[in-house]
Amino acid sequence: MSKEIRKILVTSALPYANGPIHIGHLVEYIQTDIWVRFQKQRGHNCHYVCADDAHGTPIMLRAQQEGITPEQLIADTWTQHNADFSDFNVAFDNFYSTHSDETRHFAELIYNRLHEQGHIHNKTITQAYDPVKEMFLPDRFIKGECPKCGAADQYGDNCEVCSATYSPTDLINAVSAVSGETPIEKESEHYFFKLANFEAMLKEWTHSGHLQEQVANKLNEWFEVGLQDWDISRDTPYFGFEIPNAPGKFFYVWLDAPVGYMGSFKNLCDRSDLDFDEYWGKDSQTELYHFIGKDIVYFHALFWPAMLTGAGFRTPTAIFSHGFLTVNGEKMSKSRGTFIKARTYLDHLNPEYLRYYFAAKLSSRVEDIDLNFEDFSQRVNTDLVNKVVNIASRCSGFIKKRFDGLLSAECAEPALFQEFIDANEAIAEHYEGREYGKAMRAISALADKANQYIDDKQPWVLAKQDGGDAELHAICSMGINLFYVIAAYLKPVVPDMVGKAETFLNAGELTWPNQLTPLTDHGINKFKPLMTRVDPDKLAALIEASKENLEKITTPVKAKQTPKESTEKTDMIEFDDFAKIDLRVALIEKAEHVEGADKLLRLTLSLGDETRQVLAGIKSAYSPEDLEGRLTVMVANLKPRKMRFGVSEGMVLAAGPGGDEIWILSPDNGAQPGMRVK
Ligand code: 2FM
Ligand code: ZN
Repeated sequence: MSKEIRKILVTSALPYANGPIHIGHLVEYIQTDIWVRFQKQRGHNCHYVCADDAHGTPIMLRAQQEGITPEQLIADTWTQHNADFSDFNVAFDNFYSTHSDETRHFAELIYNRLHEQGHIHNKTITQAYDPVKEMFLPDRFIKGECPKCGAADQYGDNCEVCSATYSPTDLINAVSAVSGETPIEKESEHYFFKLANFEAMLKEWTHSGHLQEQVANKLNEWFEVGLQDWDISRDTPYFGFEIPNAPGKFFYVWLDAPVGYMGSFKNLCDRSDLDFDEYWGKDSQTELYHFIGKDIVYFHALFWPAMLTGAGFRTPTAIFSHGFLTVNGEKMSKSRGTFIKARTYLDHLNPEYLRYYFAAKLSSRVEDIDLNFEDFSQRVNTDLVNKVVNIASRCSGFIKKRFDGLLSAECAEPALFQEFIDANEAIAEHYEGREYGKAMRAISALADKANQYIDDKQPWVLAKQDGGDAELHAICSMGINLFYVIAAYLKPVVPDMVGKAETFLNAGELTWPNQLTPLTDHGINKFKPLMTRVDPDKLAALIEASKENLEKITTPVKAKQTPKESTEKTDMIEFDDFAKIDLRVALIEKAEHVEGADKLLRLTLSLGDETRQVLAGIKSAYSPEDLEGRLTVMVANLKPRKMRFGVSEGMVLAAGPGGDEIWILSPDNGAQPGMRVK
């Protein structure tokens, strides 16, 4: 029964070229890689492409900050990303860059076609502009005081303290985060993609089985609000592709990012016998899948199919979106050591532990998954090492020592072997449907069965009995054959471990088990440990190594970004003004979550002889238990302020750009609550 060979093109979202790969990213790459390996193992023509997402303002500014060209920055990042992926056994058929001729070609082609058909129009808009850097400022590069609660140092689109959303022009005392200068408002002509022209097509497309149900429902909300024009241009200076016939105007990074999928595939086609048009042509009969995170559904399920349709290309067969990663139940955090970079992980632990763990937790739903370190060790040790590897190690010694490495001439339990083979359809369905957790449970149940078989037959007892040889041989050979099937099922998830198993089994590359027959009269190789248990010391060292050196980082990030001359220009205050601020050492007696608040923690601060309740916007960086018992510094004479979630009686001092990167100030040992800070 040979099934038809499918032609499949698969992508994962393109990582930005200005930061390292971390374990949060890896959920997606591992999820996709498992799916691709599964398809390949089943004999399908499956191609997996990705690229660095190399354009945009943050990349341009990062390069400037580092004193290198954007080209140099993206080349260095590409090298690191590529090494991280390959060391995690994420096996792209091509890992490319959006800053490529191929991507430029398709971005221009798509734009020109959309333009020709009247899907692009121009409009003059007013935006914040940095008069020193002579550039328009994206919202996240404008900072100021929240117009609602007055909190300092908030980004241009929302306040991390009171959660208000606003436009950057509403910020009080707004400054450019690039130069420190006050932005001015400036007009500029922008290019817009008329998404609403595709409303009928999108309504149909988003409800014809291309999306998960949850995602399709979310899209209904967007349809209800109405499809808005999409601003696809940015003004110079910008690192990206200039728009044809529009000097000084560049494609917004999100326009060319998904086009990078095409660019990467085209580059692969040019190096192989693959035909680009067969995969991307309007009437393509091949399959196209995009794996993405839930945060970028809008781009992939609305803009992208509309752009493709408007430009005469095929649309995706499906978009598979997944949730985010939490660690020990919380957002990854640099202070807790749970913001783990791929490279730091690789320095300490076997990447296949993480591949297996993610597989065990993943389903087809758009849910967040949690990495819990205890659960991680336990699952790897119990399921993989104790159960699976153990089957081979229990049987191989006897085969090697007593039977010269040769398996018995006949399969002792053909029905049992067949039962293992028959499981292949259900397991394949789980893999195909991205229900990896279910697949891992089904495989684990087989491993239990194999171990039970060995336990029942007690080869170690037979080994000591005279005349028990034939039976011993049959049982251990059977055990090895069951291991053979299990290893084949696990191959998409733990390819390195199974690679070692293939060497041990000496039977070539493991194909999908619907084709496997028992190994009889077959010589196996010496058994070498396929995987060891998670070493708790190494796990602890990984967490330690992921904790950033807080002292070093407490230097405000902004100071680094602000050129010297503009610091000198910022408003100076008189000493008397400074002297008015009563800074005190405070002991954090209690820290609690504030019901309904995304960003706030309620701190009970002791100043020695009095206590204060302060609402601090530091939840994104700290959990309450990290704070209790610590000393910090507070502004003690700030008038109580009524905020949405209660009254705040002062302010704690913290540094950092926000999100995970907020560090409260701590005095050295010896300071006492209530001491004045001078
Ligand atoms: O959100 C992100 O990290 C983007 N760099 C993803 C781009 S995916 C695709 F469209 F290119
Ligand atoms: Zn606010």
